[in-house]
Amino acid sequence: MTAPWWQSGVIYQIYPRSFQDSNGDGIGDLPGITRRLGYLAELGVDAIWVAPIYPSPMADFGYDVSDYCDVDLRFGTRTDFEDLLAQAHARGLKVLLDFVPNHTSDQHPWFVESRSSRRNPKRDWYLWRDPAPGGGPPNNWISDFGGSAWEWDEASGQYYYHAFLKQQPDLNWRNPGVQAAMHGIMRFWLDRGVDGFRIDVLWHLIKAADFPDNPPNPAYTSALGEMDRLLQLHSTDQPEVHDIAAGLRACADEYRRVGQGERLLIGEIYLPVERLMRYYGEGRPGVHLPGNFQLIAAPRQARALAALIAAYEAALPPGAWPNWVLGNHDRPRVATRLGENQARVAAMLLLTLRGTPTLYYGDELGLSDVPIPADRVQDPRELRQYGKGLGRDPVRTPMPWDDSAHAGFSTAPPWLPLNADWPARNVERQSAEPGSMLALHRRLLAARRTHPALTIGDFALLDAEGNILAYERRHGAERLIVALNLGAQPQRLELPDWAHDCRSLLSTLADLTPVRDGALLLRPNEGVILTLVD
Ligand code: NOJ
Ligand code: CA
Repeated sequence: MTAPWWQSGVIYQIYPRSFQDSNGDGIGDLPGITRRLGYLAELGVDAIWVAPIYPSPMADFGYDVSDYCDVDLRFGTRTDFEDLLAQAHARGLKVLLDFVPNHTSDQHPWFVESRSSRRNPKRDWYLWRDPAPGGGPPNNWISDFGGSAWEWDEASGQYYYHAFLKQQPDLNWRNPGVQAAMHGIMRFWLDRGVDGFRIDVLWHLIKAADFPDNPPNPAYTSALGEMDRLLQLHSTDQPEVHDIAAGLRACADEYRRVGQGERLLIGEIYLPVERLMRYYGEGRPGVHLPGNFQLIAAPRQARALAALIAAYEAALPPGAWPNWVLGNHDRPRVATRLGENQARVAAMLLLTLRGTPTLYYGDELGLSDVPIPADRVQDPRELRQYGKGLGRDPVRTPMPWDDSAHAGFSTAPPWLPLNADWPARNVERQSAEPGSMLALHRRLLAARRTHPALTIGDFALLDAEGNILAYERRHGAERLIVALNLGAQPQRLELPDWAHDCRSLLSTLADLTPVRDGALLLRPNEGVILTLVD
């Protein structure tokens, strides 16, 4: 039996503003992505997830959608999208869109209607409430971007709720019209052949019906963002969200019979593991992959990391397929978090754990966070809470392709600065260096294709001393060992008896480490894949 494409495959996240500009305006676009499909196919990924491309006032760079069924002119046209989809499919690459169902732009015609009067039929499509009895916002909920999550609308004399910017009013998912409209939007893109969606803030979709105050967060310190003052107890992760997720899944599953394999739903969910697991669905399917972001803030010590992985594996409901993420457009890059040497080890971890990996564009080059001068800040989150280090621009900078002007990203100055080391750290340069981060990614991705144990194989942690994380991947007769030295000291791994005849298949360093006397000597910051000698 072969596994579905989304279990054995690797997803590559593209932030479209920063991947490739094709028309010299300094902003990446769809024809740019199409131009780089050859790169992605050669890299060896299976699917791309493209962050929002819909018409948008860009208050939150596309996460404020004003038309769900079109393409923003900055990114191209619907025809450009169809071209991208056709060419991706011709290369065997799947395409996932970013679905933003929690909120629209305040410029979306639905909201324009909704705010026009209390009697408008779309009034109930959003979350309108009267002021608190003594005046002021209806409750204490805080926007994720800081400040009250309620915005006063003078003309109609009520507040509306926005979990993010005031330009991003939250939809009322308790309204059947909203649900039907959103299902219609999914079908619109599924009919055109998209292979699935990443669902933005899935755990936010429904709020406690009576809008009680959120309790204070006992762990809050002033170093945190303002949203962390409260626990989002009543504003997120409500029991009814699972009905919504099941409804979205039913929509995607309508397309199973139409061919091209299953359409995939990935939920963006930041929750503790036990609560995350419920998004797989209980009694009926939820999303295929509730996003697992634990590696982004994972402990760096081997035993603690092993415990995290074991706890996640153990928590998975029967039949649920795991997934792992090292970085995305909202969080610091892995090379900045761990440093370049350990970022290589982390790449091996991501691509050899059991479960679908998602790779963030640029991480395959070891790109780090780019400092953004104050006068070039773009991210509304940074602009609203300046100096808190909450800005996401540093992880959204242009992809450096080569050492020509503007790194081959554009013929014009890019919308965000390039990484300072772009003349050396770029795709062309790393393609020519066998020891580069890019070459390592290509080797790892190629190994996944030749060794099914690495993709769909079973997983078991192995005993290890010191700062080594070691595990076995096994499929049929094939048994592989992954051994990762998470520190800068050499480490010795005693191999289990069955593995004494192993040889190194792949190292994160330039040359292979031999196995001697039933042990593997790992060099500082080295990760190794071992295979049994036939
Ligand atoms: C999560 C997205 O990843 C983030 O970039 C965005 O700002 C918020 N959702 C609001 O849509
Ligand atoms: Ca452009």
